Amino acid sequence: MRDINRRDFMKTVVIGGAALGLGSAVFNKPLEALAGGKYDIGECKSVNVTAVSELGWYDDKLILKQLKAHGLRNSQWTGAWDPRNAAGSCSLIDVELLDGSHHKFLLDTGWHKWYMDQAFKREGVDKMLKNGEIEFLMITHEHLDHFFALETTLKYNPEIKMIIPSTFYPEGMHFLNGATFNKCHAENRIAHQGELVKLKLGTINKLYPGVAAVNFDCRPIVRIRGEESIFVNVKDKGMVLITGCCHQNTITFANFAKDKIKGGDNMYGIYGGLHIAPFGPINKDREFIIKEMGKYNFKKIACNHCTGLAAVERMVELGYPLVKGTARYGSRSKLFVGNGDQVFFG
Ligand SMILES: [Fe+2]
Ligand SMILES: [Fe+2]
Repeated sequence: MRDINRRDFMKTVVIGGAALGLGSAVFNKPLEALAGGKYDIGECKSVNVTAVSELGWYDDKLILKQLKAHGLRNSQWTGAWDPRNAAGSCSLIDVELLDGSHHKFLLDTGWHKWYMDQAFKREGVDKMLKNGEIEFLMITHEHLDHFFALETTLKYNPEIKMIIPSTFYPEGMHFLNGATFNKCHAENRIAHQGELVKLKLGTINKLYPGVAAVNFDCRPIVRIRGEESIFVNVKDKGMVLITGCCHQNTITFANFAKDKIKGGDNMYGIYGGLHIAPFGPINKDREFIIKEMGKYNFKKIACNHCTGLAAVERMVELGYPLVKGTARYGSRSKLFVGNGDQVFFG
């Protein structure tokens, strides 16, 4: 197929909207550095994030007790997690490019299948998956609260393109292909049938003009490796950081933008779980991270999920520009962006 024809073909497929698994996301090879050592990911017009669900689980004390009993270094796939305590983390990202076109993708798919299905129906994600409007599902990392409800996405679109860290463990790959792990109550009866893209550690992968993903090397609890996070360069506004749990920590995340991405020294916002004191009080290390965050001059901080309430309250005390929520559908406070809430960067 000659180039021009191929382009036209892709355009038709995209406009038709029925291109399950094809979508219009551009997956370039990892970007090459500019002469100055930075990477140019381009610019987009805006990004809107819907917290489809940010509540990982209902009861902190129960999961903490189970984590300690299981052993923090042991695999999540052998833990006897209580399914009655399961909820899940999932965000819907809507990027507007400079040409006015919109592109949607999902960041994670949550934990409990029924719970996530209710959240999908409430936010219209079920229909968007069915009609091919959602171009891909990115699993930020393998943790149960982000990944175990994979079947809920696949039942609406088994051919959806998926992007995962190349550092997935064999159990995660097995699950993706359709498997049940009885002990940890993880069941996926639908094999993924679409394109699978694996992001190598540390490389900058352009998803759309102005949008890139990086798989950060980190080893959070219950034997996980790597977390993918997103950089969005919004024209005339600055850099937006989007993350699932931010196990790499917010400072590493922000510094990566500042040091390696063109425009990353002008920070605009951050969205997602910031993994600061998820279960409890703020110790010295966490206080340090919260204080350091102040140096980046974020205009909007939209945190939730594993950002503990004590950490959120500390940010309020420090006068940080927190985006507030509505505390609906199980979210615990109006101080942060909760289930069904949206935040617009543009
Ligand atoms: Fe999480
Ligand atoms: Fe996590």
